[in-house]
Amino acid sequence: MRPKQKIILGIESSCDETACAVVADGQAVLSNVVATQIDLHKRFGGVVPELASRAHIEAINTVIDEALALCPNPQPDAVAVTHQPGLIGSLLVGLMAAKTLAWAWGVPLIGVNHVRAHAYAAALEAGPVEYPAVALICSGGHTALYHCTGPTEMELIGNTIDDAAGEAFDKVAAILNLGYPGGPVVDKVAKSGDPHAVKFPRSLLKGQSLDFSFSGIKTAVLYHVNGLPGQASDAPRGIENLSPQQIADIAASFQQAVVDTLTIKIRRAVERFSPRTIILGGGVAANSALRQATEDLAGKTRIAFRKPEMRFCTDNAAMIAGLGYHYLQAGQVADLGLTATATARTKVGK
Ligand code: KG4
Ligand code: ZN
Repeated sequence: MRPKQKIILGIESSCDETACAVVADGQAVLSNVVATQIDLHKRFGGVVPELASRAHIEAINTVIDEALALCPNPQPDAVAVTHQPGLIGSLLVGLMAAKTLAWAWGVPLIGVNHVRAHAYAAALEAGPVEYPAVALICSGGHTALYHCTGPTEMELIGNTIDDAAGEAFDKVAAILNLGYPGGPVVDKVAKSGDPHAVKFPRSLLKGQSLDFSFSGIKTAVLYHVNGLPGQASDAPRGIENLSPQQIADIAASFQQAVVDTLTIKIRRAVERFSPRTIILGGGVAANSALRQATEDLAGKTRIAFRKPEMRFCTDNAAMIAGLGYHYLQAGQVADLGLTATATARTKVGK
């Protein structure tokens, strides 16, 4: 007789998405409900923490009800929840809901690191990853490289020293008046631009560093559009003087610079760790140019490439439930004293 499937209910509320999902054996996504707050934060051009916490409180019960209603007789064996990193007020809403359910159902509670869960997203609905793997996680808050020897064994080998890649997409979209969130719209506009039109800097490429820096490129785009502060220029400056084609060229050139930087770091990590698989994860993993460039790199180096389905790139709870399953199998469960932590910046190598 086949062993009974392990059903995990996952909850995610670390930033601006309230999400709940039910996942069987870390693979089959039985339900995946996401309530996004994008419209709420749009007019501010970024996430407002206090508004985010309130919106999570309003949405959380409905989102959990919907996720459970989509599965016939779900009977979760455990509740997994993002407890770090993220906005503290937002994390606490999901954590409280998860503790309540775990206590009421008498099942284990599992604390999951959001960034690590992004690295698991590529395995959802797609079968287990072959390890060891190098995982690049790029989101609005993080840009990190991991060396993974299993779904729960991940060593941080590179990190951003300033802005995250997604943050750079969001800020450049704001400079170009393209709206919020920036990633999807830059991706779209870049398709009609020339990626070689403007030579933007590729940072931290010297030596063998696996760390990232994206604040320089954001400033370079700003100066390209508005001119250098204090320097007169004959050319008309400012976004209002740029044609749609010039804007598309800037978007495409910026995107190319980011993708080049990210793929160079992946290549270095591959040379150092000789993995069997390259994994992409996080919101920026939805970027068409990054997906293609990483696929090409994997093809050239004859390494398997795993990217998440589009719906599992940006924040969701299926990745939390999926990784939670592996913690449950490893006996790594929490108790009701589990706390939320805003940042989980581990030093490189730790
Ligand atoms: O993983 P995620 O949903 O949230 C965080 O954990 O931060 O990532 C959101 C980020 C945003 O910065 C958004 O602009 C970016 O992912 N993003 C993209 C694309 N889709 C979303 N960036 C580049 N290209 C995309 N297609
Ligand atoms: Zn995320």
